Amino acid sequence: MTTTSYPPTRPLRAEHATLQRGVADFARVAAEVSDWSVPDTPDRLRQMRGFLYGELLPHAEAEEGVLYPLLDKVMGAHGATSTMVADHREIHRHADALAGLIDAVGQGPPQSGELEALREHLYALWAIIRLHMEKEEKFLFSLLDSRLSDADTATLYEELAAFGHRRA
Ligand SMILES: [Fe+2]
Ligand SMILES: [Fe+2]
Repeated sequence: MTTTSYPPTRPLRAEHATLQRGVADFARVAAEVSDWSVPDTPDRLRQMRGFLYGELLPHAEAEEGVLYPLLDKVMGAHGATSTMVADHREIHRHADALAGLIDAVGQGPPQSGELEALREHLYALWAIIRLHMEKEEKFLFSLLDSRLSDADTATLYEELAAFGHRRA
């Protein structure tokens, strides 16, 4: 049990709050994408692609490299987080499809099939990421908050930082 004055996962929850602000854009842009306007809509789509590959997917990669193995250990079952890894794969699949569409459409306007596909991937990403983060916060982070000692917490953040450096 931890003796710190704040929960061990507070920095992870703060990172999620920042990511959630970016994710909210996916539903907004999905709702407005049929009112295609140049250069605003292509610019916003490119920003979202940058957010996915520059922030969200690296976050998922660090979880799989450091956080999920720790959770598997805490839960005492190898592969306990495999359903969460499956969520990451699905997010990656939609991100790749969306990125391909963004390239194909360019300055647009998109054809009706492309518009439908853009909307589908944007809404899918919005829904999957929100649910995925809620599962992490409500169940997995809460589990860590109740189990990690101060020393475990310090090791976790050292390993996350080292993982980020190795990636960079
Ligand atoms: Fe995750
Ligand atoms: Fe996460």
